[in-house]
Amino acid sequence: MKIEQAYEGSIERKIYSSDQIAATIDRLAARIAADFTGQPLLLLGVLKGALFVVADLSRAVGRVSGGPSEITVDFLCVSSYGNATRSSGEVRVLKDTGEMVTGRNVVVVEDIIDNGLTLDYLRGLLEERKPAVLRTCVLFDKPYHRQADVRLDYVGLQCPDEFVVGYGLDYQELFRNLPYLAQLKPWVFSS
Ligand code: PRP
Repeated sequence: MKIEQAYEGSIERKIYSSDQIAATIDRLAARIAADFTGQPLLLLGVLKGALFVVADLSRAVGRVSGGPSEITVDFLCVSSYGNATRSSGEVRVLKDTGEMVTGRNVVVVEDIIDNGLTLDYLRGLLEERKPAVLRTCVLFDKPYHRQADVRLDYVGLQCPDEFVVGYGLDYQELFRNLPYLAQLKPWVFSS
């Protein structure tokens, strides 16, 4: 049995298909490309969740004519959820950026924003390093439990107030490789 088929027994419903996600990435890429025409751009993904967004977004920006003069991709790795389904509120940097941020045009790329504490923390951390421009891009916006008022520059899709997995998002480190966004069946949490 394929892993995707094995996952299907745990899926309550699909929320966004891979086609819907791809179209959204293209829309975000067009806006980012237009905003950084002729300028170098650093896309800074927040691992682990943003791995697919960055992979797809960086290539989508590259397909837009008249976009940035060059694109650099880097990652930092933070964790605030551990294995829980709600953020602990404590953000831990597990791996910092390799690229210098000072004086660069930086777009921080997230898979999802929920209470906003992760992005709020990262914005503070990165602003101290004096980038030329610092913007935020989130694929899925879950606005129901916000605890920090973070400015979002590029927003993809509204996420329902459910625990969601797929396209980089996990439950206990599983389901990240699902190509679509899905809601899990309740028994998955209680087992
Ligand atoms: C998730 C997600 C964001 C953060 C958003 O990461 O990727 O970074 O939570 O939540 P918040 O807005 O409530 O702070 P997580 O800590 O689960 O780590 P992961 O990306 O490695 O799965």
